[in-house]
Amino acid sequence: NERTYIMVKPDGVQRGLVGDIIGRFEKRGFKLIALKLVHATPEHLEKHYADLNGKPFFPGLIKYMASGPVVGMVWQGLDAVKTGRAMLGATNPLASSPGTIRGDFALAVGRNICHGSDSVENAEKEIKLWFPEGVVQYEATLASWIFE
Ligand code: GTP
Ligand code: MG
Repeated sequence: NERTYIMVKPDGVQRGLVGDIIGRFEKRGFKLIALKLVHATPEHLEKHYADLNGKPFFPGLIKYMASGPVVGMVWQGLDAVKTGRAMLGATNPLASSPGTIRGDFALAVGRNICHGSDSVENAEKEIKLWFPEGVVQYEATLASWIFE
């Protein structure tokens, strides 16, 4: 069963969007297996966004992400990585369809509310980075109503 790392960024937390974002993943049928509110350090965020180190927007991205607490979570379910990205919308909110999180709540690429892993491999790396203590295993009693 595929897992993805989804994070509400500091702007999403400050704007009171945590509940809405969690609700969308719950209602879609994904299972929540880890969740935490954390004010991440620049060093931690540099690891998370290591692939983007060197981009002109990298210092601003780290400053933005370290400007307040984030909510990190792991969601499990069918095609979680790809479906999670589809639910977030395009990186630039101006290109995000209405109905997506960014398409409903954001306008600027540097204030785009949420993060989602872009591959299964990166999802596993990000889950280890943000949840070194591991995730929580439990049986979801609704599973047979969501999966055939
Ligand atoms: P994440 O889910 O946050 O990883 O976004 P993404 O996978 O859709 O995009 P990417 O990993 O390429 O970029 C990570 C984050 O950097 C984006 O979500 C934006 O917040 C920021 N970012 C990306 N490109 C730009 C840019 O051209 N300008 C600015 N200011 N920020 C950018
Ligand atoms: Mg990315």
